[in-house]
Amino acid sequence: MNISCPNIKQGGISFGSTAKDAFAVVSAVRKIASLPLMVKLSPNVGDIGAIAESVEEAGADAISLINTLYGMAIDVETRRPRLGNVIGGLSGPAIKPVAVRMVFEVAQRVKIPVVGVGGIASAEDALEFLIAGARAVQVGTANFIQPDVTAKIVSGIEEYLIRHKMNTVDQITGSIELP
Ligand SMILES: Cc1cc2nc3c(=O)[nH]c(=O)nc-3n(C[C@H](O)[C@H](O)[C@H](O)COP(=O)(O)O)c2cc1C
Repeated sequence: MNISCPNIKQGGISFGSTAKDAFAVVSAVRKIASLPLMVKLSPNVGDIGAIAESVEEAGADAISLINTLYGMAIDVETRRPRLGNVIGGLSGPAIKPVAVRMVFEVAQRVKIPVVGVGGIASAEDALEFLIAGARAVQVGTANFIQPDVTAKIVSGIEEYLIRHKMNTVDQITGSIELP
């Protein structure tokens, strides 16, 4: 369930940009959904941890984050926006540090599994998210550049497990060594 889409009626803000709205929309879906419910969060918010907590309280089974950050680009010769919609979603490697930080924050605030996404293009990128607290990862933009990237990420994680004498990905999740 993507709660990071524009909500036209409220002037283009996201459904999930406040803890109160996120709770309301996830509760409503939870009441009628019998399937597992994974809720996707927007990074374009103030306190991502508070939103994650209210999504968990509303009955979500898992949380995935992050969706795209708002971005904009301008052609300086024509002075026109490069995107038809003027403002659009920024994805890929540029957003990875923001995504890792948000996964790290959210993983400490909720008990349900957290799935990390945002700029993952290699096994090392995926491992960063797992070490920060993600139980699984997703790959978006990198598939457009390298269609076999997910297979490479899986084998890279397997190599890491062997090299670090670990048996399961669960052992990597949240294994960050803080200063
Ligand atoms: C072309 C494109 C379409 C997307 N469509 C959706 C969508 O329909 N629903 C959604 O939750 N996220 C959508 N996203 C966001 C991605 O799922 C992902 O959260 C984001 O791009 C960050 O990951 P990445 O850097 O690996 O792409 C889309 C991203 C791109 C680039």
